[in-house]
Amino acid sequence: MLENPQRYTVTAALIYANGPIHIGHIAGCYLPADIYVRYLRSTGKDVAFISGTDEHGVPITIKAKKEGITPQEVVDKYYVQIKQAFSDFGISFDIYSRTSNQIHHETSQEFFTKLYEKGDFDEEVTEQYYDEVAGQFLADRYIVGTCPVCGNPNAYGDQCERCGTALSPTELIEPHSMLSGSKPVMRSTKNWFLPLDRMQPTIEKYVNSHTEWKTNVFGQCQSWLKEGLRPRAMTRDLDWGIKVPLPDADGKVLYVWFDAPIGYISMTKEWAAEQGRDWELYWRNEQTKLVHFIGKDNIVFHCIIFPAMLMAEGSYILADNVPANEFMNLEGDKISTSRNWAVWLHEYLEELPGKQDVLRYVLAANAPETKDSEFTWKDFQTRNNAELVGIFGNFVNRAVVLTQKFCDGKVPSTGELTDYDKQVIDELAQFPDRIGQSIENYKFREALGLLMDLARLGNKYLAETEPWKVVKTDPLRANTILNIALQISANLSIVCEPFLPFTSEKLRSQLGITEHFNWTNAGRADLLVEGTLLGKGALLFAKIEDDEINTQIQKLLNAKRMNELETKTVPELRSEITYDDFAKMDIRIGTITEAERVPKSDKLLKLKVDDGLGGRQILSGIAKHFAPEEIIGKQVTFLANLAPRKMMGFESQGMILMAEDRDGKLALIAPGDAVWNGGTVS
Ligand code: MF3
Ligand code: ZN
Repeated sequence: MLENPQRYTVTAALIYANGPIHIGHIAGCYLPADIYVRYLRSTGKDVAFISGTDEHGVPITIKAKKEGITPQEVVDKYYVQIKQAFSDFGISFDIYSRTSNQIHHETSQEFFTKLYEKGDFDEEVTEQYYDEVAGQFLADRYIVGTCPVCGNPNAYGDQCERCGTALSPTELIEPHSMLSGSKPVMRSTKNWFLPLDRMQPTIEKYVNSHTEWKTNVFGQCQSWLKEGLRPRAMTRDLDWGIKVPLPDADGKVLYVWFDAPIGYISMTKEWAAEQGRDWELYWRNEQTKLVHFIGKDNIVFHCIIFPAMLMAEGSYILADNVPANEFMNLEGDKISTSRNWAVWLHEYLEELPGKQDVLRYVLAANAPETKDSEFTWKDFQTRNNAELVGIFGNFVNRAVVLTQKFCDGKVPSTGELTDYDKQVIDELAQFPDRIGQSIENYKFREALGLLMDLARLGNKYLAETEPWKVVKTDPLRANTILNIALQISANLSIVCEPFLPFTSEKLRSQLGITEHFNWTNAGRADLLVEGTLLGKGALLFAKIEDDEINTQIQKLLNAKRMNELETKTVPELRSEITYDDFAKMDIRIGTITEAERVPKSDKLLKLKVDDGLGGRQILSGIAKHFAPEEIIGKQVTFLANLAPRKMMGFESQGMILMAEDRDGKLALIAPGDAVWNGGTVS
């Protein structure tokens, strides 16, 4: 572990540009990264915060196929959408770029060429799965089968997302093509392999030198190392990606997990060029601390494969830490893009405008740091109302409003301090370091808890000193109390900034702060100068009512319903009948001329149907689906020779035929064109 570095390269996973981002992505990776980086900047560190979209690989082409657009259209669409959502949410990347940029193509091709020239790859012709129907090799997610490690039946050709193991298509049990569903055949092809097996001792040494890594990360690494690393192809027989820069590699591209992490480097280059800085300081200087924020499904790539690439290349620093989070669930179920079981960031921003910090707070408070966690809208509401409004907002509001009322809205002076005052000021002084320590140890939930404890300290101080009473007898004492309360508020504005940047900004303006305070100023009880005019007061947080939450819950329930409908299958066919069986049924067309509810029945309608023979009465169990008046005048199909029977005291002379929709709704079956009443169906 690098002690006391002054320069940091912080990366957040380059998400595939094949869909919008949801709260799981944010809680798992982007929010912790942003908190970390904002804190580092506040302590005066030199930081490059790098991210962007991963625009290659099978996930992109699969999406393109599904939407019927080109891969280029897919990545163009989602790059813009994702970048905008992050920016509106206050994720403060120094650069948010994309792996389709020229500089990235060059950087990753140079990287590949260097390894190639050093002789680091094993060039091998192997048998790979080939889909004869689709006419292409089946790499990565184009092939699905059972994971040989954990038995997950939906493991991909490159990775099992259930147990995290990195796989090759040939390791899958009962593989099948995602493209045509056909059974793939073997065909030989040449690829370039990184010999992770031979590199294992070096990789092991690297991983084992980082016992400080989070248990989930370190543990996963150990289990792969124990199993023994296998050589891994760094090229693919695909047409979407970065061309392999070799003369005999037509129709081959770099493996997406080869090019994507190099994206961190090429994006740093891009940023440094814009800023007139030297990118190499951020990737080749041993005093720079490199930290990768990712979700748990990316651990093997960031802790083993990418470091192996960097070691082979030889001129780069390796990650000092890879603080991967587990997953966040939503309302008791796994977040799923395909099932639309998610809270999408761009929708949240639109539907709950101005509430970025509420979501930041709730996601940080529930971050899946050590195990999977859960987001519910009820919890969202409670945390907002009880914690943000009830504790943080309430304290600041009291300090500001009382100052407006008793001190003309100016920061009052302090008189002599009581022991209690001194004790509170002492406690205050310790908070910034404690919060900072937690952040540096990637314990963001703990850090957030401490932040709220500081607000609690403020509330307790006001409750015990009661300036609103004291002011009547001893206004100078009230001044002292309010000064201290305002100083605590000013400190809150500094230490809440990494978590709640929008709130921090509001709070600064409410307190009339114009200086650029940062973490190095925090802890002091003299941040606000006596006589400073406070800005306009406004509530930092608003109560969230049931309505707002219910709308969101309803939205999820709708998604669930849609899913159930989609997965509902068409019923199996009934057993075969002969033509004679069919010919026994006399099916005819008629028009409903009268319709009324049957008393005491919520199901039955009594219909009069013009059958061309003087009309007949038919009882039909459709009262829950149709109001009588809406079906009068409609043509219907009915079974004319069904034996009459009594229902609720009325005789039914036949049966109206109905079609049942997927969701159980009924539809009348009418002829496509009007047919005379009595027309027969055959
Ligand atoms: N695209 C990958 C995903 O969404 C993450 C790539 S991270 C990088 O899971 F290191 F490769 F950039
Ligand atoms: Zn598995």
